[in-house]
Amino acid sequence: MALEFLLTEQKQTFMKLVFATNNANKLKEIQHKLGNKIELLGLKDIGCNEDIPETAPTLEGNALLKAQYVYNKFGYDCFADDTGLEIDALNGEPGVYSARYAGEGKDAQANMDKVLANLDGEKNRNARFRTVIAVIIDGKKTLMDGEVKGTILTKKKGDEGFGYDPVFQPDGYDISFAQMNLAEKNKISHRAHAVEKLVAFMNR
Ligand code: IMP
Repeated sequence: MALEFLLTEQKQTFMKLVFATNNANKLKEIQHKLGNKIELLGLKDIGCNEDIPETAPTLEGNALLKAQYVYNKFGYDCFADDTGLEIDALNGEPGVYSARYAGEGKDAQANMDKVLANLDGEKNRNARFRTVIAVIIDGKKTLMDGEVKGTILTKKKGDEGFGYDPVFQPDGYDISFAQMNLAEKNKISHRAHAVEKLVAFMNR
């Protein structure tokens, strides 16, 4: 009985799950939310040092590409995410191209300047951040997403956060993401909502 209990405990404590990222902040935050039944590993932890191609035309496609790459090559249960800013008046742009909207340099200031220039004089400033997570467990693929709706400001406000935070104001607030502290943003963000679904899925 005692041995059975120990084995069950051990199995629960050590289920390994790979998150296809090297971002230490993302790993730490999601490990905290998953609890101790799952040991979250990053790409470096499994010896994956290559840059996984993100060549699909959709967030779903890219998240699946990354998760499939890890599953095929390393055999671990895993998940991957991809995020984009989707602006209604720009037909969903920059979307899947958010990181490189103004060029390969992935320059956040240049990306925001391009968004502001493309929306110059535009009244419809509705937008949303959307995060897609692709999970592969025992070869079975599942997709989930999370979003936060808001508007694109006419100029940058605030210094916190990263990416498009200074030009994005979430609905229900009169400050940009870059004027919020991290804890506040992490409660309402696209990524937080997608991760909530991942946690529910893993604990089902
Ligand atoms: P990734 O898929 O998490 O690498 O996100 C792709 C790109 O979307 C980033 O390079 C940023 O430009 C943008 N992005 C993702 N999440 C956020 C966010 O929380 N705030 C602002 N920009 C973001």
